Amino acid sequence: MNLYRAALALIVAPSLLLAVSYAQTATPPQPSAHNAIVNGYQSQWWKEAVVYQVYPRSFKDSNGDGIGDLPGITSKLDYLQKLGVKVIWLSPHFDSPNADNGYDIRDYRKVMTEFGTMADFDALLAGIKQRHMRLIIDLVVNHSSDEHKWFVESRSSKDSPYRDYYIWRPGKPNPASPTGFDPPNNYPSFFSGSAWQYDPGTKEYYLHYFAVKQPDLNWDNPKVRAEVFDLMKFWLDKGVDGFRMDVIPLISKRAGLPDLTPEELKNVGKAYANGPHMQEYLQEMNRNVMAKYDVMTVGEALGISLQQTPSIVDDRRHELNMIFNFDAIRINREGRQWKSWTLPEFKAIYAEHASKLDVHSWDTVFLSNHDNPRLVSSFGDDSPAFRVASAKLLATMLLSLRGTPFIYQGDELGMTNYPFKAIGDFDDIEVKNAYKADVLTGKVSEQAYLANLRHMSRDNARTPMQWDGSSNGGFTTAPKAWLAVNPNYKEINAKEELADPDSIYNYYRRMIALRDHTPALIYGDYKDIDPQNKAIFPYTRVLGQEKYLVILNLSSDPVSYSLSGGLKARAIVISNLPTAEKDLSNLKLRAWEARVYKLE
Ligand code: NOJ
Ligand code: CA
Repeated sequence: MNLYRAALALIVAPSLLLAVSYAQTATPPQPSAHNAIVNGYQSQWWKEAVVYQVYPRSFKDSNGDGIGDLPGITSKLDYLQKLGVKVIWLSPHFDSPNADNGYDIRDYRKVMTEFGTMADFDALLAGIKQRHMRLIIDLVVNHSSDEHKWFVESRSSKDSPYRDYYIWRPGKPNPASPTGFDPPNNYPSFFSGSAWQYDPGTKEYYLHYFAVKQPDLNWDNPKVRAEVFDLMKFWLDKGVDGFRMDVIPLISKRAGLPDLTPEELKNVGKAYANGPHMQEYLQEMNRNVMAKYDVMTVGEALGISLQQTPSIVDDRRHELNMIFNFDAIRINREGRQWKSWTLPEFKAIYAEHASKLDVHSWDTVFLSNHDNPRLVSSFGDDSPAFRVASAKLLATMLLSLRGTPFIYQGDELGMTNYPFKAIGDFDDIEVKNAYKADVLTGKVSEQAYLANLRHMSRDNARTPMQWDGSSNGGFTTAPKAWLAVNPNYKEINAKEELADPDSIYNYYRRMIALRDHTPALIYGDYKDIDPQNKAIFPYTRVLGQEKYLVILNLSSDPVSYSLSGGLKARAIVISNLPTAEKDLSNLKLRAWEARVYKLE
């Protein structure tokens, strides 16, 4: 038990100083303290940064067509800089027919027409660098669009040189089926139905784990890997600082593509992930690409367990820097179904991460993104009485847990889930496909389906940013945005929050600044000091003599609370409600109260 462990060791590891090579076009800020070792961790800019995710379609529309775009993002860079985030993750901005809002890429080297031009991209990147921030982009290479020229070629003939860029198989003969075949195996798609699509041109099936318009690339083909490494370099040479890698654990498929067992069909993500060559391909990618630049990578680790995490992120393996593990964010669902959860279960996830990941495996912290409902609606209480306090509590938590924090756009304003009423209110292909597969076939009632979607739908997070109280929340001057703006934009918007020193936005700003200046909140040891408590989440972050206590009341009721163990508060560093209480043995915590104490 080494909680209050050795004083902060600032030992420079000389071999690490050599590994820095910047992209030509830009000079990003230097890594802090020359990659010192802090509390056993090798310090890195991406461990210290707070990342902010921009979903370009919904961030800011600059030209009145109802769709967010790159110049719109550029126009809001001061807003992001003021917030204090150091890295922006841009969801896909590439040319796409938008079957899955840009996660279906038609041309990896072209900007989506609705979002602007390459000159707009360059201006955005320059604006980010000028403000001492960095940009990571989305790498979506498990699949492309079916409109990508590789796929157009691939499907044109069995002899095409591009045939083997994708995964084609003959069907199983079945005279009773309209095509004369059944799919090659029982793989389901994440977006309903079979993962195989019959292509009448060559009378074979292609594999698509996601939509029919998202054929999976064949990573076993070295030409595909070379193409991917090339396109990565194209963007890195422009000065981009890394990638968020979409469903990256799915790139290597099982040999022979055998049917999934009934057990495996219960967790398809797990079955598809971690294929036999995944690690080999990630190491090859690292050698060919990442090792040549000072970049960060974060893999969307669908299907990867905490136990498997070090096998991808351990810094001695040279694969990825970090992954998104879904244990915490998905605590509120069983498959696609919303379910209740308890605080001890939730806290156990963070405790387990702290115990399973050692100094070589860096973690991420996030509870929202464009695939999940709104943070405050899912993990806080978005009722008028508690929305502000609970959003601030969640900020306190995300920015003081172990790992690089990822904030999703609008969470810094406390934006909420959308009051969806009918199926026509949704845009998401996942929703529409499941509606056809489950509701129109009578498997699920429309009412039950919609009730669940109100909690779970990805569209909750995709409604446009609420910039001010003008029509459409100032997101667009068009009469209608591509997806309706949440009607609460008159009360919840950036303009109001920037002007109010007590706003959620300004609380995020202070909390980000606190994290920035407090190495213990970044590199410190983590200990949950009351794992069984059903309402209170108290934990310490300790780095040598620097000791902090975070204490959170994750409930809508006041709680009297007493901390044992002789912890003594020296000062309150930040709190979401005014307080002067310093006696830790006798605390009166209000609903959703959050405090950070510096300890003796
Ligand atoms: C994960 C992305 O985050 C999601 O939005 C997308 O639908 C799938 N991958 C397919 O690319
Ligand atoms: Ca636009």
